[in-house]
Order: sequence, then structure tokens, then C-alpha cells
Amino acid sequence: MFRNLVLVGFMGSGKSSVGRILSSLTGFALVDTDTLVAQEAGQSINAIFKQHGEEHFRALETKVLQSLVGRIGLIVATGGGVVTVANNRACLPQIGPVVWLDAGTDQLYQRVRHSKRPLLQTKDPRGTVEELYRAREPLYREVATVRIDSSALTHRQTAEAVLAELQQTQ
Ligand code: S3P
Repeated sequence: MFRNLVLVGFMGSGKSSVGRILSSLTGFALVDTDTLVAQEAGQSINAIFKQHGEEHFRALETKVLQSLVGRIGLIVATGGGVVTVANNRACLPQIGPVVWLDAGTDQLYQRVRHSKRPLLQTKDPRGTVEELYRAREPLYREVATVRIDSSALTHRQTAEAVLAELQQTQ
């Protein structure tokens, strides 16, 4: 068994939804780094980006992540860009095995296209998804203990696949 479990993956990869199911299957508490960042800042993620910019958001995200090292019994759902900071990539495996939830960019885009995610408020959100995914894919690969392709799976099936895969690596 693992101390904690960390979920990484692109926006729309299902980290929060799969995290909720993993929490009920394992009895571990679900923590969402975006929620903790918003609590720390006392404002929403969108407001943080708008008023202070991405760099400030990343600094808060790193602080929140580091506060989780040493905790036990958590399912940690992270924001999609957590892997872009080298310190975070070093920190993630200290929390627990890192599960990369992946899907094709067409599917990821369909899942986020109607959302208000700050990084996708561009002239060409579809192109932005492609660009960000291309830049981040090697970073997810670098930190991941296991990769789960959730393209053809329900959230529950994805959660079950996560636990089955992790059992093989422990
Ligand atoms: C971000 C993803 C978001 C949130 C912020 C930045 C990113 O989280 O952390 O908007 O850089 O990909 P989700 O992956 O939960 O959407």
C-alpha cells in the first residue's frame, strides 16, 4: 500500500473526478491543490491569474505542494501545470506514487472547451491545448510512476485501473 497517491495530468484529464472515486475506494482524503491555493490566496484561481498573473499562482502552488510532504493518507489532485516547475517535479514523488491520467488532445479539448480555465482564454483555445500538451507531455512522463490512458474508460474504470497498476509496481 502507498502513503498517499498523487494525480497529475492535463486539464480535463479527470484528476478531480477520478480522485473522488479513489478517495472512496481507499478511504484516503481527497485534497485538490487548486482548492488549497484558492484558500491560501483567499480568492479564486481565475482571480489570482487575472490580478497577479501565472507566476504568482505557481509560487502559491509550489508552497501548497511542499506543505503536503510528510502527510499521509491523501489522494492529491494537482493542477495541470504543476509539472512545469522543476521544484514541483522533485517534490511530487516525495508525496507518493505519481499517477499520470492521460487522454488524446481532441478529448481533452472537448472536456474543457466550455470551462473558464484562465490559460485557455485565448483566440485559439484548441491550438493552445495542443501547444501546452506538447510542452508538458515529457514532463508528465518524467514524474509519472504509472500512466493511465483514460480515453476509453469511465471515471470509475480509470480509478480501478489506477489501483490495479499501482499494485503491480509496489
Ligand atoms: C492549470 C490547470 C488548472 C489550474 C490552473 C492552471 C494549468 O487545473 O491549476 O488553471 O496550467 O494547466 P486543472 O488541471 O484542474 O484544470
